[in-house]
Parts: sequence; C-alpha cells; structure tokens
Amino acid sequence: MRHLITLADLSSAEIERIFAITEDLKAKYQEGLREPLLPGRVMALLFEKPSLRTRVSFEAGIINLGGHSLFLGDDVGWGSRESMADFGRVLSQYVDVIVVRAKSHQKLVDLAQFCNCSVINGLTDYDHPCQALADLYTLGELAGPLAGQTLAFIGDGNNVARSLAMGCGKTGMRFALAAPKEYQFDAAYVAALAREVPDLDLVVTTNPREAVRDAAAVYTDVWTSMGQEAEADVRRRIFAPFQVNAKLMSHAPTDALFMHCLPAHRGEEVTDEVIDGKASIVVQQAANRLHAQKGILAWLLGAQGPGRE
Ligand code: CP
Ligand code: NVA
Repeated sequence: MRHLITLADLSSAEIERIFAITEDLKAKYQEGLREPLLPGRVMALLFEKPSLRTRVSFEAGIINLGGHSLFLGDDVGWGSRESMADFGRVLSQYVDVIVVRAKSHQKLVDLAQFCNCSVINGLTDYDHPCQALADLYTLGELAGPLAGQTLAFIGDGNNVARSLAMGCGKTGMRFALAAPKEYQFDAAYVAALAREVPDLDLVVTTNPREAVRDAAAVYTDVWTSMGQEAEADVRRRIFAPFQVNAKLMSHAPTDALFMHCLPAHRGEEVTDEVIDGKASIVVQQAANRLHAQKGILAWLLGAQGPGRE
C-alpha cells in the first residue's frame, strides 16, 4: 500500500510521473474536460486544523475525477473514541484514500500503519508534501526546467520549508534557507535530507540577501504557523529581519519570482508590495493545488488497479 506521508515516499521518477499526469489533467480542465479517471472512488478527509486550499482542492479534485469526498467531523472520534488500530482498519474498509491534516505528524504516521488504503499528508507540524509538489510543478511551468535552479526560502524552517527542501533534492534544484539559527532545520532533518537526497545542494544561512542572490524564486511562509499562536509576539521580533520586501527582492536576480503557500500574514513575512507585485505567482500556486492533487490522486489510486483486498 502506497502512502504519501513525506516526499521521501516518492522517487524522482514518480514525481516526474505525477507532474506529467498533472499537466495532462490541467490541459484537459482548461478545455472544459473533467476526465473521470477514478469513478466511484471515495476520499475521506480528516482535518484537525483549518484549511481552504488543501481541503477544497482535494474535494473538487476527486469530484472532477468522477469520485466522491467525505469531509469527516469530530464525531468520528479519531484518537479519542477507540484505538488508532481499530479506527484505521475500519475507516480504510469504506474509502479508497484518506487525506489527513494533523496537529502532530506522529498521529498521521500512527494512523497510516493500520490503513488498508492510501493515506495522504495534507499538512502536519512536520511536513506539507502536497504543497511542495504543487509549488515545484508551478515553478517548472513558469521558470522552466527545475534542475540546477535555486529556490530561496526566507523565514521559518518549518513544515513547508522541509517539504520544499526534500522536493528540491528530488528534482535537482538547489535549496537556500535563510532563517534565524534556532528556526533552521534540526540535525535530524539535515540527516534525513543527506540520506534521502544526498546530491541536494543545500545552503543554510542567517543572511537573507545571501540566500536570494541566485534565486529563480524567493519563497516565504508565515512566521507563526497554526498551533504556534502563543509564540506570535516572540516570533514577530525574531523574524523581523527576514521579511520579504522590495529591498530584499532587489538583491535577487531581476527575473526572480515570489512564492508563498498562503494564507499570508501581510505586513509580517511579506509586504503587500511584493505579494501583489509583478513577480508574485501566489495565485498560480494556489490554482495549481487543484491540478496537482488530481495528479497525486490519479497516480496513487490509478496504480492500485480496479479493486483492493
Ligand atoms: N497552503 C495551504 O495548505 O493552505 P490551506 O491551509 O488553506 O489548506
Ligand atoms: N506553516 C503554515 C503553513 C500553512 C499552509 C502552517 O503550518 O500553519
């Protein structure tokens, strides 16, 4: 059973294949075609945190593909009403795929091991692989072949940054992270990158100008992620020198793009001038979440053939 928990679960060739399916489905969508590749398949969403993009793009995506979506509420009692094993074994009898947004990455890992259907990570405190796939697909569309290009990430070395770094390694991109020392990748994650993507050209610095110097795109994410709200004041102070503003963008190549996973905290990690400026591709990134989720679903479920045990 294949799951998508982190991008370590996909080989470079599999990512290329997902991008090819995404491209095909996007072209058809733009012609008004909704190819029903997954008729009757059922996707369940288990979300412990709010979501616009991930939830709606997955739900619309499976419907486009001829399948159905079940957005499960608290009443199913994940982690509270019965054991993780009973919950996972039973839920996966009813549905073909489960998309999970969990407060704790470990809770997702614990669930997946008991599921007899694919489980997809729709964001945890550790990782956001579907975001990174859509972003790299978008960058390939708008900036040309990824291999050899640099993605600069300015801000918190958190879930989005971790997945992007892994994705860069899988697609031959360089990854430059500029973050305050205590918000850079920890030793365990640097070791995971070295193991999984040994050829990744990884630059880690506290100097945003150094990170953006050769960037094809400058990426940022909120300084205070969901669940960290109590730290917001401290983080605002620590991250202030890491704001992506016009001054910082002037140190990047003139054709560098600006990227953000959204939602943004405008005036904190990015100024209006940059996020609404000509270099910004944030809306294209969000739009491509739909096409990329469909690519992921079609690849993951299509590969399973018509039935499951
Ligand atoms: N980027 C992203 O995952 O957005 P949502 O939190 O709205 O799903
Ligand atoms: N780092 C952010 C990403 C939101 C899509 C968070 O976890 O809240």
